[in-house]
Amino acid sequence: MSLSINNISASVLGNNILENISFQTKESEIFCIIGTSGAGKSTLLRTLNRLQPINSGEIYLNGQSIYLMTPQNLRKNAVMILQTPSLFEGTVEDNILFGAKLNSDFNKTESRKLAISLLEKVGLESNLLLRNSSSLSVGQQQRVSIARSIAMKPSILLCDEITSSLDPQSTLHIQNLLLTLKKEEKMTILLVTHNMDLVQQIADRVGLLIDGKLVEVSAVNDFFNNPRTELGRNFLSTIA
Ligand SMILES: Nc1ncnc2c1ncn2[C@@H]1O[C@H](COP(=O)(O)OP(=O)(O)O)[C@@H](O)[C@H]1O
Ligand SMILES: [Mg+2]
Repeated sequence: MSLSINNISASVLGNNILENISFQTKESEIFCIIGTSGAGKSTLLRTLNRLQPINSGEIYLNGQSIYLMTPQNLRKNAVMILQTPSLFEGTVEDNILFGAKLNSDFNKTESRKLAISLLEKVGLESNLLLRNSSSLSVGQQQRVSIARSIAMKPSILLCDEITSSLDPQSTLHIQNLLLTLKKEEKMTILLVTHNMDLVQQIADRVGLLIDGKLVEVSAVNDFFNNPRTELGRNFLSTIA
């Protein structure tokens, strides 16, 4: 279960946004993408589930070109989670099972049990199951949206600033949840974030994106203690 990005470039409305990006993720790895605003972090994540086309290069998921997969199959395998939880009107259970129903092995008679086990996995009480999703706090909604995502049994989670609108306690819940998914489900997690404490707590490796270029990829401790590049040192000095 891994992602291999080989020399990709992408443009938005005729402007070159990503330039010759290459990196590989490993199974059971949390890879944090950091960098200044407008650097292309969201655009990069969007290329990985084909919401954003590329101009050149190759992207392989578990050895297969993502362009040979149907978009539906790809997006079940590489699921995107966004900053603002986008739940639909309906119960928490409806929302969670929406993800699960996309699986071929979905078993209707076991669906209540499945929904409860997914809620437990994200640290929410089963008494929330029949609540309307809009009555939950934003932190709870974000955990429901993660439950819906992992119900699809993805191999990769693409997380775009998923803790940016959360309070510190909810952020801590998500932090622990991501670590659990990495360890227990062997998931690969790509996490775009501006929260450097979070990065230092959970990342295995860090990729620094500046002006559409991946200028440094380092193990997390190496990056924060001894960045290899001038741009890495500059970035750290601006956030210190
Ligand atoms: N839909 C869009 N329309 C116009 N410009 C866009 C659009 N999406 C992204 N861009 C431009 O692409 C660049 C990278 O954006 P983005 O990937 O959102 O950066 P980041 O997530 O790192 O803040 C920015 O300069 C932004 O203005
Ligand atoms: Mg962004």
